[in-house]
Amino acid sequence: MIIAVDGPTASGKGTIASALAAHFELPLLDTGLLYRAVGRQVFLDGGDPDDAGDALAACSFPDSLLNDPHLRTEETGGLASRVSVHPGVRQALFDRQRAFATQPGGAVLDGRDIGTVIAPDADVKLFITASVDARAERRWKEMQARGVATTLDDIALDIRRRDERDMGRKDAPLVAAPDALVIDTSDLSRDDAIAAAIDAVKIGS
Ligand code: DC
Repeated sequence: MIIAVDGPTASGKGTIASALAAHFELPLLDTGLLYRAVGRQVFLDGGDPDDAGDALAACSFPDSLLNDPHLRTEETGGLASRVSVHPGVRQALFDRQRAFATQPGGAVLDGRDIGTVIAPDADVKLFITASVDARAERRWKEMQARGVATTLDDIALDIRRRDERDMGRKDAPLVAAPDALVIDTSDLSRDDAIAAAIDAVKIGS
């Protein structure tokens, strides 16, 4: 069974995808991490994330980079969003994601274009979303807990920018597949959102 979990930043899709992987005992690929690794590699190379050539060169990042804690930062998330607009980058990362999706036994993949581009043949497609305010508040709480000083307004602005770029790019924009089930987590607790997703997979598969 292939489960595609797409959605915007801070929607809860990562939490939901890992809960689904644990529940259905499937391997999980957080595809955002691949784009984050490319963004980070461009930075380490001293390149320009908006330059298609620099971004493409960074796609041959070493696998060890996937364990770099810097990949989880907001800065790297912004770089990832910028390198992800280049069609060459998306193409370079395609085979790896497709091979993961089609491995025997199935898989869970979370990202932006899993249900539309990487695995349009997925058995279940979920599109996880939430209001900008709800997402900003969650991200703010996470950052407070990590001791990162920031304001709710700055986070909301960053989320809006990321949404615009991810939804507005020409190649594989963030959009719900026509056959995706949309789960809005704005007013759901973490446990309720996970339960809704597990139910959706059971019904959809
Ligand atoms: O899910 P994330 O925040 O780790 O993703 C970081 C960026 O990577 C996101 O803003 C856009 C890009 N991305 C993408 O274009 N396609 C994916 N399947 C996953 C992420």
